[in-house]
Amino acid sequence: MQFETWKCKVAAVAADCLVLGAYQDGTLTPHGASVDTASDGRIARLIKRGDFNCKLAMTFMVPELDGVKAPRVLLVGLGPRADFSRKAWRKATAAALLHAGRTQAKSVALALPRPSVRELDDQLFGRVIAELAGAALYKINDLKSAKKPKPPQLDTILIEAGKASTTKKVRQGFDEGVALAAGATAMRNLANLAGNVCTPSYVAKQATAIGAQYKSVTTKVLGLEEIKREKMGCFLAVTQGSDEPPRFIVLEHKHPRAKKAPIVLVGKGITFDTGGISLKDPGAMDEMKYDMSGAAAVIGAFTTIAALNLPLNVVGLIPTCENMPSGRAIKPGDIVTSASGQTVEILNTDAEGRLILCDALHYARRFEPEAVIDLATLTGAIVIALGSHHTGVFANDDTLAQDLVKSGVRADDRAWHMPLTEEYGEQLTSNFADFDNIAGRDGGSITAAAFLGKFTKGMKWAHMDIAGTAYTGGTNKGSTGRPIALLTDFLVRRAAR
Ligand code: BES
Ligand code: MN
Ligand code: ZN
Repeated sequence: MQFETWKCKVAAVAADCLVLGAYQDGTLTPHGASVDTASDGRIARLIKRGDFNCKLAMTFMVPELDGVKAPRVLLVGLGPRADFSRKAWRKATAAALLHAGRTQAKSVALALPRPSVRELDDQLFGRVIAELAGAALYKINDLKSAKKPKPPQLDTILIEAGKASTTKKVRQGFDEGVALAAGATAMRNLANLAGNVCTPSYVAKQATAIGAQYKSVTTKVLGLEEIKREKMGCFLAVTQGSDEPPRFIVLEHKHPRAKKAPIVLVGKGITFDTGGISLKDPGAMDEMKYDMSGAAAVIGAFTTIAALNLPLNVVGLIPTCENMPSGRAIKPGDIVTSASGQTVEILNTDAEGRLILCDALHYARRFEPEAVIDLATLTGAIVIALGSHHTGVFANDDTLAQDLVKSGVRADDRAWHMPLTEEYGEQLTSNFADFDNIAGRDGGSITAAAFLGKFTKGMKWAHMDIAGTAYTGGTNKGSTGRPIALLTDFLVRRAAR
């Protein structure tokens, strides 16, 4: 996606599609009014007649307006004038780009009003536009056999030139947004794949491809024998019921200017979660192909990090396997030894995410990281607690949690800081091992986090439960690309400090 600016009168802007806003009371923005005058009042008449109601994010395409250079004028509703905010702007811009993306326009000029700089600074303004353009053009890599329609051509976004310093920041943000969009697309493409295609080896292949594509990234893949050598007893316990071989993936992004210890991102890579012997109900079980969304997020984040060549050291760790029932599968009551040496009584084989993550979190220690952040579709309980709007953030370091929450607000990819006090960890007490892998239904997302906390002592660590945010179910089924926007903001800010 290219970024350009225009300087002329808005009716003279050379773009394939010109986007103008109108408020719900029927009034036009200054740019809208200017184009309206140039085209002899046709836009105002159209609204007055009631053909376009200007509700937030409604769109209306007006072709070939006299007096306007752009062959398409796309009207977008801004909602009530008094409510116009960053949120309304975002919705309107997303709707406009989505509509433009359904045409064959190659370039789109955005002539919408901007939220105040306090709400959205220049860098974020540019970043969000590129992010939304990427989302608008996203198409699920489906396997429908019908011939595909002609793909959209959109490759250039124009905004009005401002002060040179402003334009510079907007452009910088736009470049970040392009990388963010590439990361979100990579995550969504991987997560949307069927479980019979997206196996642990397939995930490893994608991670290896990033290493091959970007000079800053190296990828190492451990197979079964090497995982055994690492004594990852909990990870091995989960994979033992599956015929698909497991993989443990280590990604490293290094930058010569980055002197600090690395940030380690850990992603849960269960390519299909049946529950194992503690088998899940069949309803919506297909959605458990998304149980590798954390892994996909790490791969997406690495795509973004590498594309921007961020001056940071970042490590990505992905334990990936299936969770299957079989004659060789783990059984409730089985006791295994984690890589940390701590023993775990597996009371429920469906609480498998924490088992593969605990060994990956232990592996993170060797990097003496500045911070460890794991990403996992870990619990149904977080969906009950927060729905699909907020990612749950748990941490043993309040500042780290707050940094993540702040980035979520800035990126409009929100997260909520959940409690994580000792009491929850005490609920994991076992009669037979160091602890159980479950602690009842109450506070299920927190006891899951507390389990992980047993393996991260002495490291700054945050856990992000993305079970409610990483994908949508039902008729709109698909990966959302969350929390790549949050992570991009977090990492860009870390790189700047
Ligand atoms: N992958 C699931 C969590 C999940 C559930 C993600 C629903 C998305 C939607 C995880 O492995 C799991 O099964 N967790 C159990 C834990 C329980 C057995 C303590 C759960 O949440 O029910
Ligand atoms: Mn499970
Ligand atoms: Zn799972």
